[in-house]
Amino acid sequence: MARVVLKDLVKTYGDFNAVNNVSLTVNDGEFVALVGPSGCGKTTTLNLVAGLVPITSGDIIIGDQVVNDLDPKDRDIAMVFQNYALYPQKSVYKNLAFPLQMRKLPREEIDRKVQEAARVLDMTHLLERKPRELSGGQQQRVALGRALVRDPAVFLMDEPLSNLDAKLRVQMRSEIKRFHQDLKATIIYVTHDQLEAVTMADRMAVMNGGYLQQYDSPAQVFAHPVNMFVASFVGSPAMSLIPLEASTANGSTVLTSAEGWSLPLSPLNARKVQNATSRKVVLGARHSTIRLHKSAVPDAIPAKAYTVEPTGDVTFVQAFLSGAVVNISVPPNVAVAPDQPVWLEFDQERMHLFDGATEVAVRAD
Ligand SMILES: Nc1ncnc2c1ncn2[C@@H]1O[C@H](COP(=O)(O)OP(=O)(O)O)[C@@H](O)[C@H]1O
Ligand SMILES: [Mg+2]
Repeated sequence: MARVVLKDLVKTYGDFNAVNNVSLTVNDGEFVALVGPSGCGKTTTLNLVAGLVPITSGDIIIGDQVVNDLDPKDRDIAMVFQNYALYPQKSVYKNLAFPLQMRKLPREEIDRKVQEAARVLDMTHLLERKPRELSGGQQQRVALGRALVRDPAVFLMDEPLSNLDAKLRVQMRSEIKRFHQDLKATIIYVTHDQLEAVTMADRMAVMNGGYLQQYDSPAQVFAHPVNMFVASFVGSPAMSLIPLEASTANGSTVLTSAEGWSLPLSPLNARKVQNATSRKVVLGARHSTIRLHKSAVPDAIPAKAYTVEPTGDVTFVQAFLSGAVVNISVPPNVAVAPDQPVWLEFDQERMHLFDGATEVAVRAD
């Protein structure tokens, strides 16, 4: 396996920048997810690494080698795509063996590698079947196997689970994670699904508009999103973002809403807000950090429930505050009705504060 380094990677199509100065290092054996909304440049970035698309500028290093000008076949990578592109007429065995035959490996070595891949992916019993005799998940496993037999330095995967139904996707998610743990493989995995990235990856590279927004462990990205885009993209239901105004009087700082209510801030949050470039501040709160009360309590903000969605384990309530949608989760035994008045209490230690002008998270120092 090998490390992959992207340095100031740029891809332009005409005057459109699909990938803007992306720099990141994928360590040897690391599972990195490139994640972001449709069109943000994930596939383009992956195809640049693969060599399927020529770079405009920057460097790509795989192992110790700058591969900018190498053909895909010389980059020691294997790709797994959303459409598995299996040969319909060939058995699973032959599908796995084919890339090795192309490389003119001896027959015994091909057999050994195919059997080993089948064992790792638990599909020895499927080797004689044709792709049409397999389920979607089994076909995806064959596609993984075909990458595996090549024993590449890096696996590149582009939305490999997108064609599977929801249940199978969850199952294959753990299988690919297991695959990574067993092989200690270097994997770059593209997905638009933040939950896939959060659950599978060692680190996630969150992209938007061709720019890398944040590159960190899922736990760090979740706990400390660097800006409002990352804050609202990662986590479900999305973090609520409420635009407010900061003011300080008699030594205490409050956030006030055009609706007339105000929220006193803890000393730490007050220090953060003082670092904003203007008085405009956006309060960010995840559903699990807002307490819903059914009667007035000190420091809780009055609101009105709008929709109520029981999911079994937890009930999601949506309310409007200062024109923003606020998502709150409550235990299933708490009965809330649409249009019912509620009071929302924000957890000072777990709230996020963003500069309303720059949309960047404000820090205390
Ligand atoms: N060959 C191309 N010519 C022009 N624009 C392209 C080409 N390939 C991709 N793009 C544009 O680059 C942007 C990023 O595309 P892509 O990397 O496929 O996004 P993602 O995989 O994140 O959905 C999109 O706006 C897309 O339309
Ligand atoms: Mg894509």
